[in-house]
Amino acid sequence: MNVLGIETSCDETSVGLVDETGNVLANVIATQVDIHARYGGIVPEIASRQHVLDIRPVCEQAISDAGIDWGDIDVIAATHGPGLAGSLIVGLNFAKGLAAALDVPLVGVNHMDGHVYAAWADPGGRGGDRSGETGLKPFQRDVGVKPIMCLVVSGGHTELVLLEDHGKFRLLGETRDDAAGEAFDKVARVLGLRYPGGPEIQRVAEGAPETEPFPRAWMRGTDEFSFSGLKTAVINRARKLGVYPRNSPGDEVDPGVVAGMARAFQDSVVDVLVTKTVAAAIREGCAGIVLAGGVAANRQLRETLVARSPVPVAVPPVAMCTDNGAMIAMSGLVNFRNGRLDDWDLDVIPNLRIGSTAAP
Ligand code: KG4
Ligand code: ZN
Repeated sequence: MNVLGIETSCDETSVGLVDETGNVLANVIATQVDIHARYGGIVPEIASRQHVLDIRPVCEQAISDAGIDWGDIDVIAATHGPGLAGSLIVGLNFAKGLAAALDVPLVGVNHMDGHVYAAWADPGGRGGDRSGETGLKPFQRDVGVKPIMCLVVSGGHTELVLLEDHGKFRLLGETRDDAAGEAFDKVARVLGLRYPGGPEIQRVAEGAPETEPFPRAWMRGTDEFSFSGLKTAVINRARKLGVYPRNSPGDEVDPGVVAGMARAFQDSVVDVLVTKTVAAAIREGCAGIVLAGGVAANRQLRETLVARSPVPVAVPPVAMCTDNGAMIAMSGLVNFRNGRLDDWDLDVIPNLRIGSTAAP
């Protein structure tokens, strides 16, 4: 059995394929990052239009990479939320058209479930890249899932979620303001770095000398997070050190100052995320931890969590942390196995919550 997964919730058009045991057969990603970089963030209408242009060639490439024919697809899975409405509509309707044409079932996938299930897909299958993979056994050898603590950190979400059984999520806490990735992106902008900010902050922070630390927002007694105070602290220090605001975009700033601030910012975010995730995993008696979402690509976050966790940590390879179709195919396979098929009236839900199939 082959499951095709379609992801268009944000600024990546991606189609992936997994087989019935979760081997990744293909994972093609057309990123729009360069198109949006000139605006310093995602422009929703441009994103939707680019998905329209890219979805068919990306899908054809995935099928060709997997070495299969259209007739070998047994299930079509597509992200139907959360995300940008216009972007989601492109992928979901393409999925409906394909499912109708091939006469196969349609399965809607929650994008956040998809991020978590990236840790179960086996990227060594055929289409994937194994670099950076650690921890828990791949899906096909790990059906008896015990409670697993999932930290899902992306551009739009920062959530601690308990995976109680396959496909069964319980949201324990989330950010009260900015998402972790959003904080990386906003702070990068203040420091004069390119969009998306996460990889840029990681790059300049590496090897930077230790500077005065930024505060940590612990939100004690809760599983919640807050990053807006940290963002304000960065802005205040950047003003004091003459890094922000710049009079014109080309203004030179001291790269040493920027690197030191990037490092102190990254240290603060990673410390809070790791400390709270490990504490929650111990409290809930978890058998393991899954780190997922675009920010899980961050090297320091990955390494610190692995070093500080008393239980095994699964982190998908970098290419499967940011938005991709293989993770949607994997999550679609789990939904299909749980009998969660959808009808033609499946709608996009831009504010869909993890652990839910309906609008809040
Ligand atoms: O999951 P994702 O691809 O898209 C959303 O669903 O939001 O996550 C994108 C986010 C962006 O905020 C980006 O800056 C962040 O992930 N990100 C990183 C790194 N790579 C991507 N943040 C920190 N370090 C990285 N290496
Ligand atoms: Zn995402």
